[in-house]
Order: sequence, then C-alpha cells, then structure tokens
Amino acid sequence: MKKMNIAIVGLGNIGSYLFKYLNENKRILTEKNNCTPNIIFVCAKNKNRRRNVNIKQGQWLNNYLDATKHKDIDIIVELIGGSDGPAKKLVFNALKNKKHVVTANKALIAKYGDQLAKIAEKNKVNLEFEAAVCGGLPIIRSLKEGLIANKISKIHGILNGTSNYILSSMDKQSKNFNEVLNNAKNLGYAEANPSADLSGEDVAAKLKILSSLCFNSFLNHNIYVEGIKDIDKTDIDNANKIGYKIKLLGYAELIKNKIYQRVHPTLIKKTSYVASIDGVLNAVIIDGVPVGQSIIQGEGAGPSATTSALVSDISSILRGNIKFPFSLSNKERKKLFFENISNRFFSAYLRFEVIDKPGILSNITNIFSKNKVSIKRLIQTPNKEKKSSSIIIISHKTKNDYLNKIIKEVIKKNYLKRKPKLIRIDED
Ligand SMILES: NC(=O)c1ccc[n+]([C@@H]2O[C@H](COP(=O)([O-])OP(=O)(O)OC[C@H]3O[C@@H](n4cnc5c(N)ncnc54)[C@H](OP(=O)(O)O)[C@@H]3O)[C@@H](O)[C@H]2O)c1
Repeated sequence: MKKMNIAIVGLGNIGSYLFKYLNENKRILTEKNNCTPNIIFVCAKNKNRRRNVNIKQGQWLNNYLDATKHKDIDIIVELIGGSDGPAKKLVFNALKNKKHVVTANKALIAKYGDQLAKIAEKNKVNLEFEAAVCGGLPIIRSLKEGLIANKISKIHGILNGTSNYILSSMDKQSKNFNEVLNNAKNLGYAEANPSADLSGEDVAAKLKILSSLCFNSFLNHNIYVEGIKDIDKTDIDNANKIGYKIKLLGYAELIKNKIYQRVHPTLIKKTSYVASIDGVLNAVIIDGVPVGQSIIQGEGAGPSATTSALVSDISSILRGNIKFPFSLSNKERKKLFFENISNRFFSAYLRFEVIDKPGILSNITNIFSKNKVSIKRLIQTPNKEKKSSSIIIISHKTKNDYLNKIIKEVIKKNYLKRKPKLIRIDED
C-alpha cells in the first residue's frame, strides 16, 4: 500500500487532537484514500511540556525547521499559528523544499497566501488551508470543487463563533458584554486574549481568503472592519423591539464590477436565516449562478471541528489531488479593483443618548436633513430620573459617507451623554 509521511508541527489544542485522530483512524483513512497517512515526526516548542498524547521514540523533532529538510517527509502540517515568526518560516521553507503543506493558520494565509501559492504552484505541491476558515465548515473545498461551476456574486455570514456567542448570549440572558465575555472565556470559547475576535480582525482574515476564492482575484486588503466591542445590551434590546437581531457579519460582494469587503455588526431581520444562528456556530451563505443560494452551517472552531477540516486536506493530498491553492494558477488570478464602502448605500440604526432638554431632537433631525439623509422611524424615550433621553433613528438607505458625517457632526454637540452609535442594517 502506498504511504505518505507526515510531520505535525505544533501540538497545542489542534495539533494534539489531530495527532490522536490520525493514529486512531489510520486504517479507515488508508482504505478511503488508498494511501496510508503515516506520522513520522511531531514537534512543538517545549519538549518537556506534559502532553496528553503518546509520542513514540524517535518521533520528536528537536528543531521545527528540520521538518522542511528531511527527505522522508512528504506533508508538513503547520499548527503553530501567527502570521509571522516560526509559522511563516516553516511554511515558506516547506514549500520551497517541495513539501506539501496543510495549515489552519488564517492570519498567515490572509497575509502571505499569494506568495505561498506561487511557490506551491512552481514546485507542484499542495498548499491546503480548509481549517483556516470556519473550522469544520467545508467552505474552501465547496468553493474549489462542489461549487466550481458557479459565478459567485456574494458570500456572507457569521464567521466568528466567539463574537456570535457573545451577541446571542447578551440577547438571551440579561447580561452585559463583560459578563458574557467572561463566561465565554470560562467555557473555552474565547481565548485569554480575544482581541482579534472582538475587533473583527479574525473575520477580516477569513473573508479576504474567501473573497479571493469567490472572485478569482489576488488577496486584497481593502476591507472595512468594525468589531463588536461597542455593542451593548441596550442596542440588542432596541433591535429586538423593532424586529431585528444584531450579528457580526462579514460580506464580500461583487456589485457592478466592483468588489466590496466589509465586516461590521449588522441589524438583520429576526425572521432571516442568519438571525437564527446562535452560540458558537458559524454560517456561510453563497450566492452564485447557476446554483442560486447555498448555505453551509456548523461548528466554526475547536479541536474536533478543525481536525475534520485538516483531515479533509490531508486526504486530498493522499489521493494525489494537486490543485492550485486558490483554485486558479497564479497567472489566471486577477488583480481586481476593490472599492471602499464610503459610497455604498445602507440604511442604519443610529442611537443618541442626550440630556433631556427642549430643542435637541430638532437639532439632530436638522443634521439629518442637512446631510440629505431621510428618517424612516424615530423613537424617543425620555428618562426623567436621569434627566436624559434616548433617541433611536432608523434611516432610509443613504451613502455610508453621509451617515458618518452625521455622527461626526453630532459628536461636536455638548448635549451628548455618550458616543453615538451607528449600526448598518441588512435589508436583503
Ligand atoms: N483553536 C481553535 O479552535 C482553532 C480553530 C481553527 C484554526 N486554528 C488555528 O490552528 C493553529 C493552532 O492553534 P492552537 O489553538 O492549537 O494553538 P496552541 O494551542 O497555542 O498551540 C500552538 C502550538 O505551537 C507550538 N509552537 C509554538 N512555537 C513553536 C516553535 N517555534 N516551534 C515548534 N512549535 C511551536 C506550541 O508549542 P508548545 O506546546 O511547546 O507551547 C504549541 O504546541 C493556529 O493557526 C490557529 O489560528 C485554531
């Protein structure tokens, strides 16, 4: 029976789960792929760390870069993480030395994916990164294989489980942002430093990878990114009252030959499919021709879901399925124009917490009309005790720039009790 030798570099949450999985499922994977996945080396930073895995004698590699030089290694699985440092060195050197690479590292692929894909193509080896985007959801393979026939016009959805857990828990439980974030950390959903999840950067890295696959383009860093740090329970309750949920959504869409990439909290109708995706789940919706709309939903992170994606990539290599990492060869990929969202039209939820004095509401509505933004709905809730008033305005569709101008102008006023909020609404 044919076999391929594998080195796993990084034995943390993901690496140790994958190591065990491959050992326990070697026979069935051999039968399905007609080739044996044979782990010959493993490596991590600290040899003396206690690990919940059974490493055989001679299997430990002292220096991670040795994996790139060893003549017997066919596949290197990079599970270190981080866009630079050892992960970058490992993957560049591995591909240069004609090793197949499987990685779960979205930060690395979003930053260096184009360069890496070029080397992989030149050296006729695989660079596989299914596990880098939405863990267990087979979104990359679906775009490259199952949906290959389609011209894709839009991909969007919930691409980060931690932020979705926080928003849906704030909605369902009477808890504020920090209480829910602490719960997420205790349950292992949020990392000790969850900044990339909360700032939207994690979604941005995944979205860049997805949009380059959807639109046959090189990776593009022109992307609008806003996270969930400023969303509070009041916004969530307000959204509920008017028939919406708040979700952190990533969108990449082709409109009149221009591509827009954006990540931001979004008001989405309660009755929509995306609004029903709660907890740590991810969901990706693809609009294409001829397929129409296709949806993939599931566990977006965690060792088991991520291992499912890694094994899919490893199996593809075992079967000898060498493909271009981004679906097309380097010379066929396009340098497309990605447009800034400033000229895109959105309707929006705007919230102003002001002191309760006559004339303020008309001052705010005047600022709207001066900026040519018409108001669809206005709710004013005075709080006599606090001598304040909450003004919620739902705008009609207008240029993103005009909405920002309103916020800038109102911020200058001395009647504000806190920074105003602007959350875009998905009307589709
Ligand atoms: N966790 C998830 O749910 C998830 C989901 C999807 C994708 N991913 C991605 O999967 C990758 C791994 O994540 P993780 O959660 O498993 O991280 P982790 O638990 O922090 O593990 C990182 C591993 O890398 C090793 N390492 C660090 N520097 C090294 C070096 N110089 N040489 C060799 N090994 C080194 C560490 O060694 P020590 O053990 O000795 O410290 C550790 O075993 C990341 O790219 C992450 O973004 C994670």
